[in-house]
Amino acid sequence: MNPSSARPAILLARAIFPEVVDKLAAHFDVQANQADELWPPDELARRLQGKQGVFTTGSERIDAALLRGCPGLKICANMAVGYNNFDLPAMSAAGVLGTNTPGVLTETTADLGFALLLAAARRVTEGEHFLRAGHWDRWACDLLAGQDVHGSTLGIIGMGRIGQAIARRGALGFGMKVIYHNRSRLPEADEAALGARYVRKAELLRSADHVLLALPYTPEARHGIGAAELALMKPGATLVNIARGGLIDEAALAQALREGRIAAAGLDVFEGEPQVHPGLLACANVVLTPHIGSATLRTRKAMAHLAADNLIGYLTESRALTPLNLEALNQPTP
Ligand code: 8YV
Repeated sequence: MNPSSARPAILLARAIFPEVVDKLAAHFDVQANQADELWPPDELARRLQGKQGVFTTGSERIDAALLRGCPGLKICANMAVGYNNFDLPAMSAAGVLGTNTPGVLTETTADLGFALLLAAARRVTEGEHFLRAGHWDRWACDLLAGQDVHGSTLGIIGMGRIGQAIARRGALGFGMKVIYHNRSRLPEADEAALGARYVRKAELLRSADHVLLALPYTPEARHGIGAAELALMKPGATLVNIARGGLIDEAALAQALREGRIAAAGLDVFEGEPQVHPGLLACANVVLTPHIGSATLRTRKAMAHLAADNLIGYLTESRALTPLNLEALNQPTP
Protein backbone atom coordinates (compact mmCIF):
# COMPACT_ATOMS: atom_id res chain seq x y z
CA MET A 1 0.00 0.00 0.00
CA ASN A 2 1.27 3.46 -0.80
CA PRO A 3 1.85 5.13 2.61
CA SER A 4 0.53 8.47 1.29
CA SER A 5 -2.90 7.00 0.57
CA ALA A 6 -5.18 4.09 1.46
CA ARG A 7 -5.37 3.05 -2.17
CA PRO A 8 -3.44 0.05 -3.50
CA ALA A 9 -0.63 0.83 -5.94
CA ILE A 10 -0.39 -0.89 -9.30
CA LEU A 11 1.98 -0.91 -12.26
CA LEU A 12 0.97 -1.03 -15.91
CA ALA A 13 3.86 -2.80 -17.61
CA ARG A 14 2.94 -1.62 -21.12
CA ALA A 15 1.09 1.25 -22.77
CA ILE A 16 -2.63 0.71 -22.70
CA PHE A 17 -5.83 2.45 -23.81
CA PRO A 18 -6.20 5.77 -21.94
CA GLU A 19 -9.80 4.88 -20.97
CA VAL A 20 -8.44 1.80 -19.17
CA VAL A 21 -5.73 3.82 -17.41
CA ASP A 22 -8.47 6.23 -16.25
CA LYS A 23 -10.67 3.38 -15.06
CA LEU A 24 -7.81 1.94 -13.00
CA ALA A 25 -6.85 5.37 -11.68
CA ALA A 26 -10.31 5.65 -10.12
CA HIS A 27 -9.34 2.78 -7.78
CA PHE A 28 -5.57 2.73 -7.53
CA ASP A 29 -2.38 4.74 -7.48
CA VAL A 30 -1.32 3.90 -11.00
CA GLN A 31 2.19 3.94 -12.38
CA ALA A 32 1.56 3.77 -16.12
CA ASN A 33 3.98 3.21 -18.99
CA GLN A 34 2.32 5.19 -21.76
CA ALA A 35 5.71 5.68 -23.43
CA ASP A 36 5.62 1.87 -23.85
CA GLU A 37 9.19 1.32 -22.67
CA LEU A 38 10.32 -2.28 -22.73
CA TRP A 39 11.74 -2.98 -19.27
CA PRO A 40 14.24 -5.77 -18.66
CA PRO A 41 13.33 -8.05 -15.70
CA ASP A 42 15.44 -6.12 -13.14
CA GLU A 43 13.78 -2.84 -14.16
CA LEU A 44 10.33 -4.43 -13.97
CA ALA A 45 11.17 -5.75 -10.48
CA ARG A 46 12.40 -2.29 -9.46
CA ARG A 47 9.20 -0.65 -10.63
CA LEU A 48 7.11 -3.29 -8.86
CA GLN A 49 8.44 -2.25 -5.46
CA GLY A 50 5.50 -1.17 -3.29
CA LYS A 51 2.95 -2.39 -5.87
CA GLN A 52 0.15 -4.82 -5.09
CA GLY A 53 -0.88 -5.42 -8.68
CA VAL A 54 0.56 -5.42 -12.18
CA PHE A 55 -1.11 -5.27 -15.58
CA THR A 56 0.95 -7.44 -17.92
CA THR A 57 0.86 -8.57 -21.53
CA GLY A 58 2.34 -11.76 -22.92
CA SER A 59 5.73 -10.02 -23.14
CA GLU A 60 6.46 -9.77 -19.39
CA ARG A 61 7.85 -12.87 -17.70
CA ILE A 62 6.63 -13.39 -14.13
CA ASP A 63 8.79 -16.03 -12.47
CA ALA A 64 10.26 -17.04 -9.10
CA ALA A 65 13.28 -14.74 -9.45
CA LEU A 66 11.10 -11.69 -10.05
CA LEU A 67 8.60 -12.63 -7.35
CA ARG A 68 11.36 -13.03 -4.73
CA GLY A 69 12.11 -9.34 -5.12
CA CYS A 70 8.45 -8.21 -4.98
CA PRO A 71 6.99 -9.48 -1.70
CA GLY A 72 4.02 -7.07 -1.72
CA LEU A 73 2.66 -8.25 -5.06
CA LYS A 74 -0.79 -9.89 -4.93
CA ILE A 75 -1.99 -10.11 -8.54
CA CYS A 76 -0.63 -10.20 -12.09
CA ALA A 77 -3.41 -9.53 -14.59
CA ASN A 78 -2.43 -10.65 -18.09
CA MET A 79 -4.04 -9.01 -21.08
CA ALA A 80 -3.91 -12.29 -23.01
CA VAL A 81 -5.65 -15.62 -22.92
CA GLY A 82 -2.27 -17.40 -23.09
CA TYR A 83 -0.24 -17.20 -19.91
CA ASN A 84 2.98 -19.02 -20.74
CA ASN A 85 4.75 -15.85 -19.53
CA PHE A 86 3.57 -16.78 -16.01
CA ASP A 87 5.32 -19.38 -13.90
CA LEU A 88 2.03 -20.26 -12.25
CA PRO A 89 3.42 -22.68 -9.61
CA ALA A 90 5.94 -20.00 -8.56
CA MET A 91 3.14 -17.44 -8.39
CA SER A 92 0.99 -19.75 -6.28
CA ALA A 93 3.94 -20.43 -3.96
CA ALA A 94 4.43 -16.67 -3.58
CA GLY A 95 0.71 -16.13 -2.92
CA VAL A 96 0.25 -14.17 -6.16
CA LEU A 97 -2.91 -14.57 -8.25
CA GLY A 98 -2.62 -14.77 -12.03
CA THR A 99 -5.52 -13.86 -14.29
CA ASN A 100 -5.96 -14.02 -18.08
CA THR A 101 -8.55 -12.83 -20.61
CA PRO A 102 -10.39 -15.86 -22.04
CA GLY A 103 -13.55 -15.66 -24.10
CA VAL A 104 -13.44 -12.07 -25.27
CA LEU A 105 -10.93 -12.75 -28.07
CA THR A 106 -12.15 -16.14 -29.31
CA GLU A 107 -13.98 -15.17 -32.49
CA THR A 108 -11.51 -12.42 -33.45
CA THR A 109 -8.56 -14.79 -33.15
CA ALA A 110 -10.42 -17.50 -35.06
CA ASP A 111 -11.03 -14.96 -37.85
CA LEU A 112 -7.29 -14.35 -38.17
CA GLY A 113 -6.61 -18.08 -38.14
CA PHE A 114 -8.93 -18.43 -41.09
CA ALA A 115 -7.44 -15.41 -42.83
CA LEU A 116 -3.98 -16.99 -42.59
CA LEU A 117 -5.31 -20.33 -43.78
CA LEU A 118 -6.96 -18.77 -46.84
CA ALA A 119 -3.99 -16.50 -47.56
CA ALA A 120 -1.45 -19.31 -47.30
CA ALA A 121 -3.45 -21.90 -49.23
CA ARG A 122 -4.45 -19.45 -51.98
CA ARG A 123 -1.07 -17.69 -52.07
CA VAL A 124 -2.60 -14.27 -51.45
CA THR A 125 0.42 -12.39 -50.12
CA GLU A 126 2.74 -14.14 -52.53
CA GLY A 127 0.47 -12.96 -55.35
CA GLU A 128 0.45 -9.42 -54.03
CA HIS A 129 4.25 -9.29 -53.80
CA PHE A 130 4.48 -10.67 -57.35
CA LEU A 131 2.08 -8.03 -58.66
CA ARG A 132 3.68 -5.12 -56.80
CA ALA A 133 7.11 -6.19 -58.01
CA GLY A 134 5.87 -5.74 -61.59
CA HIS A 135 6.19 -9.42 -62.55
CA TRP A 136 2.58 -9.78 -63.75
CA ASP A 137 2.75 -9.50 -67.51
CA ARG A 138 0.16 -12.10 -68.58
CA TRP A 139 -2.51 -14.53 -67.41
CA ALA A 140 -1.24 -18.11 -67.19
CA CYS A 141 -3.20 -21.29 -66.56
CA ASP A 142 -1.15 -22.20 -63.47
CA LEU A 143 -0.18 -18.73 -62.28
CA LEU A 144 0.00 -18.85 -58.47
CA ALA A 145 -2.18 -21.95 -58.39
CA GLY A 146 -2.73 -22.91 -54.77
CA GLN A 147 -4.72 -25.38 -52.70
CA ASP A 148 -8.49 -25.48 -52.21
CA VAL A 149 -9.83 -24.68 -48.77
CA HIS A 150 -13.53 -25.43 -49.30
CA GLY A 151 -14.36 -29.11 -49.08
CA SER A 152 -10.88 -30.05 -47.84
CA THR A 153 -9.88 -31.65 -44.52
CA LEU A 154 -9.04 -29.27 -41.70
CA GLY A 155 -6.94 -30.66 -38.85
CA ILE A 156 -7.05 -28.61 -35.66
CA ILE A 157 -4.54 -29.26 -32.89
CA GLY A 158 -5.89 -27.73 -29.68
CA MET A 159 -9.67 -27.79 -29.44
CA GLY A 160 -10.33 -25.13 -26.81
CA ARG A 161 -12.54 -22.12 -27.42
CA ILE A 162 -10.49 -20.82 -30.34
CA GLY A 163 -10.02 -24.25 -31.94
CA GLN A 164 -13.78 -24.78 -31.78
CA ALA A 165 -14.47 -21.38 -33.33
CA ILE A 166 -12.13 -22.34 -36.20
CA ALA A 167 -13.92 -25.69 -36.54
CA ARG A 168 -17.28 -23.92 -36.90
CA ARG A 169 -15.90 -21.68 -39.62
CA GLY A 170 -14.45 -24.64 -41.48
CA ALA A 171 -17.46 -26.93 -41.23
CA LEU A 172 -20.28 -24.44 -41.64
CA GLY A 173 -18.69 -21.83 -43.88
CA PHE A 174 -16.40 -23.89 -46.08
CA GLY A 175 -17.88 -27.38 -46.04
CA MET A 176 -14.65 -28.77 -44.60
CA LYS A 177 -14.26 -32.13 -42.97
CA VAL A 178 -12.92 -31.30 -39.50
CA ILE A 179 -10.63 -33.58 -37.52
CA TYR A 180 -8.97 -32.55 -34.27
CA HIS A 181 -6.46 -33.57 -31.67
CA ASN A 182 -6.55 -32.33 -28.10
CA ARG A 183 -5.23 -33.32 -24.66
CA SER A 184 -8.71 -34.55 -23.86
CA ARG A 185 -11.52 -35.55 -26.17
CA LEU A 186 -14.60 -33.31 -26.30
CA PRO A 187 -17.94 -34.71 -25.13
CA GLU A 188 -19.69 -36.53 -27.99
CA ALA A 189 -22.47 -33.94 -28.13
CA ASP A 190 -19.90 -31.16 -28.68
CA GLU A 191 -18.16 -33.19 -31.39
CA ALA A 192 -21.49 -33.72 -33.12
CA ALA A 193 -22.43 -30.03 -32.87
CA LEU A 194 -19.08 -29.03 -34.36
CA GLY A 195 -19.01 -31.84 -36.89
CA ALA A 196 -15.50 -32.67 -35.68
CA ARG A 197 -13.87 -36.09 -35.26
CA TYR A 198 -11.14 -36.80 -32.69
CA VAL A 199 -7.98 -38.44 -34.10
CA ARG A 200 -4.46 -39.08 -32.86
CA LYS A 201 -1.89 -36.44 -33.73
CA ALA A 202 -0.05 -38.59 -36.31
CA GLU A 203 -3.30 -39.43 -38.08
CA LEU A 204 -4.27 -35.77 -38.14
CA LEU A 205 -0.92 -34.79 -39.65
CA ARG A 206 -1.20 -37.53 -42.28
CA SER A 207 -4.80 -36.82 -43.32
CA ALA A 208 -5.29 -33.06 -43.03
CA ASP A 209 -5.02 -30.78 -46.05
CA HIS A 210 -4.64 -27.86 -43.65
CA VAL A 211 -3.26 -28.10 -40.12
CA LEU A 212 -4.00 -25.33 -37.64
CA LEU A 213 -2.39 -24.96 -34.21
CA ALA A 214 -4.55 -23.46 -31.45
CA LEU A 215 -3.17 -25.15 -28.35
CA PRO A 216 -1.69 -23.65 -25.18
CA TYR A 217 2.10 -23.40 -25.02
CA THR A 218 3.74 -25.41 -22.29
CA PRO A 219 7.37 -26.58 -22.01
CA GLU A 220 6.25 -30.08 -23.09
CA ALA A 221 4.57 -28.66 -26.21
CA ARG A 222 7.77 -26.92 -27.40
CA HIS A 223 8.66 -27.95 -31.00
CA GLY A 224 5.75 -30.41 -31.06
CA ILE A 225 5.79 -29.75 -34.80
CA GLY A 226 9.31 -30.55 -35.95
CA ALA A 227 10.96 -32.36 -38.85
CA ALA A 228 9.33 -35.71 -38.01
CA GLU A 229 5.83 -34.22 -37.81
CA LEU A 230 6.30 -32.13 -40.95
CA ALA A 231 7.40 -35.28 -42.76
CA LEU A 232 4.02 -36.84 -41.98
CA MET A 233 2.09 -33.99 -43.61
CA LYS A 234 0.73 -34.15 -47.15
CA PRO A 235 2.95 -32.54 -49.81
CA GLY A 236 0.22 -29.99 -50.64
CA ALA A 237 -0.63 -29.25 -47.00
CA THR A 238 -0.58 -25.90 -45.26
CA LEU A 239 0.32 -25.23 -41.63
CA VAL A 240 -1.15 -22.32 -39.66
CA ASN A 241 -0.03 -21.19 -36.19
CA ILE A 242 -2.04 -18.67 -34.17
CA ALA A 243 -1.00 -19.96 -30.74
CA ARG A 244 2.68 -19.59 -29.77
CA GLY A 245 5.77 -19.68 -31.98
CA GLY A 246 7.63 -22.19 -29.84
CA LEU A 247 5.16 -24.92 -30.80
CA ILE A 248 7.01 -25.21 -34.12
CA ASP A 249 10.67 -25.95 -34.80
CA GLU A 250 11.03 -22.98 -37.13
CA ALA A 251 14.30 -24.14 -38.72
CA ALA A 252 12.63 -27.45 -39.65
CA LEU A 253 9.57 -25.60 -41.00
CA ALA A 254 11.72 -23.25 -43.08
CA GLN A 255 13.49 -26.25 -44.57
CA ALA A 256 10.19 -28.04 -45.35
CA LEU A 257 8.82 -24.89 -47.02
CA ARG A 258 12.03 -24.32 -48.95
CA GLU A 259 12.06 -27.88 -50.23
CA GLY A 260 8.32 -27.77 -51.06
CA ARG A 261 7.64 -30.70 -48.70
CA ILE A 262 4.55 -28.83 -47.56
CA ALA A 263 2.89 -26.20 -49.75
CA ALA A 264 2.64 -23.20 -47.46
CA ALA A 265 2.36 -21.83 -43.95
CA GLY A 266 0.62 -18.95 -42.21
CA LEU A 267 2.25 -17.78 -39.00
CA ASP A 268 1.12 -15.10 -36.55
CA VAL A 269 3.51 -16.08 -33.76
CA PHE A 270 7.25 -16.76 -33.58
CA GLU A 271 9.52 -18.36 -31.04
CA GLY A 272 11.81 -15.35 -30.65
CA GLU A 273 9.28 -12.66 -31.55
CA PRO A 274 9.55 -9.89 -32.52
CA GLN A 275 12.55 -11.54 -34.20
CA VAL A 276 11.56 -13.90 -37.01
CA HIS A 277 13.70 -16.87 -38.08
CA PRO A 278 15.68 -15.76 -41.18
CA GLY A 279 14.86 -19.04 -42.91
CA LEU A 280 11.16 -18.18 -42.74
CA LEU A 281 11.71 -14.62 -43.94
CA ALA A 282 13.46 -16.06 -46.98
CA CYS A 283 10.49 -18.27 -47.99
CA ALA A 284 7.87 -16.89 -50.39
CA ASN A 285 5.35 -19.57 -49.44
CA VAL A 286 4.75 -18.36 -45.90
CA VAL A 287 2.37 -15.63 -44.80
CA LEU A 288 3.76 -13.77 -41.78
CA THR A 289 1.82 -11.46 -39.45
CA PRO A 290 3.11 -9.76 -36.27
CA HIS A 291 1.07 -11.47 -33.52
CA ILE A 292 -2.20 -9.75 -34.42
CA GLY A 293 -4.61 -12.64 -33.75
CA SER A 294 -6.70 -10.64 -31.29
CA ALA A 295 -6.01 -7.27 -32.87
CA THR A 296 -9.30 -5.58 -33.53
CA LEU A 297 -9.85 -2.45 -31.49
CA ARG A 298 -13.06 -3.81 -30.02
CA THR A 299 -11.45 -7.04 -28.88
CA ARG A 300 -8.23 -5.48 -27.61
CA LYS A 301 -10.34 -3.05 -25.56
CA ALA A 302 -12.45 -5.93 -24.22
CA MET A 303 -9.23 -7.73 -23.21
CA ALA A 304 -7.81 -4.62 -21.53
CA HIS A 305 -11.06 -3.98 -19.64
CA LEU A 306 -11.22 -7.59 -18.47
CA ALA A 307 -7.62 -7.44 -17.20
CA ALA A 308 -8.44 -4.14 -15.46
CA ASP A 309 -11.61 -5.60 -13.93
CA ASN A 310 -9.56 -8.49 -12.57
CA LEU A 311 -7.23 -6.01 -10.84
CA ILE A 312 -10.11 -3.96 -9.48
CA GLY A 313 -12.12 -7.00 -8.34
CA TYR A 314 -9.22 -8.72 -6.64
CA LEU A 315 -7.57 -5.77 -4.96
CA THR A 316 -10.81 -4.15 -3.79
CA GLU A 317 -13.04 -7.18 -3.04
CA SER A 318 -10.74 -10.24 -3.22
CA ARG A 319 -12.71 -11.41 -6.26
CA ALA A 320 -11.31 -11.84 -9.77
CA LEU A 321 -13.41 -12.60 -12.85
CA THR A 322 -11.02 -14.97 -14.61
CA PRO A 323 -8.51 -16.32 -12.07
CA LEU A 324 -5.95 -18.96 -13.03
CA ASN A 325 -4.64 -20.26 -9.72
CA LEU A 326 -7.21 -19.33 -7.10
CA GLU A 327 -7.52 -22.91 -5.85
CA ALA A 328 -3.75 -23.27 -5.44
CA LEU A 329 -3.65 -19.96 -3.55
CA ASN A 330 -6.31 -21.16 -1.14
CA GLN A 331 -4.42 -24.40 -0.33
CA PRO A 332 -3.00 -24.39 3.17
CA THR A 333 0.82 -24.38 2.96
CA PRO A 334 2.21 -27.83 3.82
C1 8YV B 1 -2.22 -11.05 -27.03
C2 8YV B 1 -2.39 -13.56 -27.33
O1 8YV B 1 -2.45 -9.93 -27.80
O2 8YV B 1 -4.21 -13.61 -25.86
C3 8YV B 1 -3.18 -14.14 -26.23
O3 8YV B 1 -2.76 -15.19 -25.70
O4 8YV B 1 -1.51 -14.17 -27.84
C4 8YV B 1 -2.73 -12.20 -27.85
O5 8YV B 1 -4.11 -12.09 -27.96
C5 8YV B 1 -0.75 -11.09 -26.69
O6 8YV B 1 -0.43 -12.22 -25.95
C6 8YV B 1 -0.35 -9.85 -25.87
O7 8YV B 1 -0.79 -9.93 -24.57
